[in-house]
Amino acid sequence: MATKDAVLQALRQTNFPLSGERLARQLGISRNAVWKAVRALQKDGCRITASTRTGYRLVEAPDLLSETEISRWLVQREIGSSIEIHQELDSTNNRAKELAARGAPHGTIIIADSQTAGRGRFSRQFFSPLHSGIYMSIILRPILPAECAVMITSMAAVATSRAIESVADVDVGIKWVNDLYINRRKCCGILCEASMDFESGGLEYVVAGIGVNVARMQFPKELESIATSIENECQMPVSRNRLIAEIANQIAGLYPDLATGSFMAESRRRSVVIGQSVTVHSGTQSYPAEALDIDEQGHLIVRREDGQTEILNSGEISIKL
Ligand code: BTN
Repeated sequence: MATKDAVLQALRQTNFPLSGERLARQLGISRNAVWKAVRALQKDGCRITASTRTGYRLVEAPDLLSETEISRWLVQREIGSSIEIHQELDSTNNRAKELAARGAPHGTIIIADSQTAGRGRFSRQFFSPLHSGIYMSIILRPILPAECAVMITSMAAVATSRAIESVADVDVGIKWVNDLYINRRKCCGILCEASMDFESGGLEYVVAGIGVNVARMQFPKELESIATSIENECQMPVSRNRLIAEIANQIAGLYPDLATGSFMAESRRRSVVIGQSVTVHSGTQSYPAEALDIDEQGHLIVRREDGQTEILNSGEISIKL
């Protein structure tokens, strides 16, 4: 366990101050190492009072990301075999792609406490403030033809929906293909990026980037009416460490079903789009349609106003919820 995590855990276990000497003895480290860990925790946003007479006392700790805490909730480590946590990254997908290109194994997870250039589909920004959300990317190495990549987004959407419902009393819906909604507002976006092996026509690796708004938060004006967070909707605290582990557990559970797509039934059941009027945005064109169904390959089937049906495998739709 990292020294910082160990000091935090020890301070969490009591309401009384603990002297540097006692902490050092308890953890088998030097007093200087304790002091350094306390400084680092304060820098991370923990309110720790320090008195030369009585010692250190934890007054308040934000829901800090910790590998030890995440590991406590991991059922098996097929996803989460290696976990990298950063205070800040431009984008966890960028870091994951870098590592994947250098051969990082299947199941590696990259997490950041904030992102300076978190991105969504069509190069949109993903709002990624400090200590408030989950910004994670998972490196996957599936044996699948490249045209099946959309199944990975559907699988990640079902897995993340289940994970959110396992930690909070909310119902999660999926807006095809990569957005999760609670009470008609977006709480999560998924961005899967793939590298193709041109010789085999298969996927070399996929980076599944998942962004979840977790903590109670005020969104910027332009997002206020369309975005929400889990805690805004369920009024109870949610541990980001636990939710990260639940997402990893759910993805590990669904991963073997990628080839059969057996989770598509649940994806349909959770869909907030099927049966609704939507606007399809395709290149520079937009047209109204009715969303009819999602097929076994994760494509959206729509009927245009002239009665013609179409199968969409990417592009975007908007919907008034
Ligand atoms: C979308 O809303 O279109 C998808 C948003 C995906 C955001 C996540 S946060 C973690 C990962 N890193 C990124 O830069 N994007 C994804």
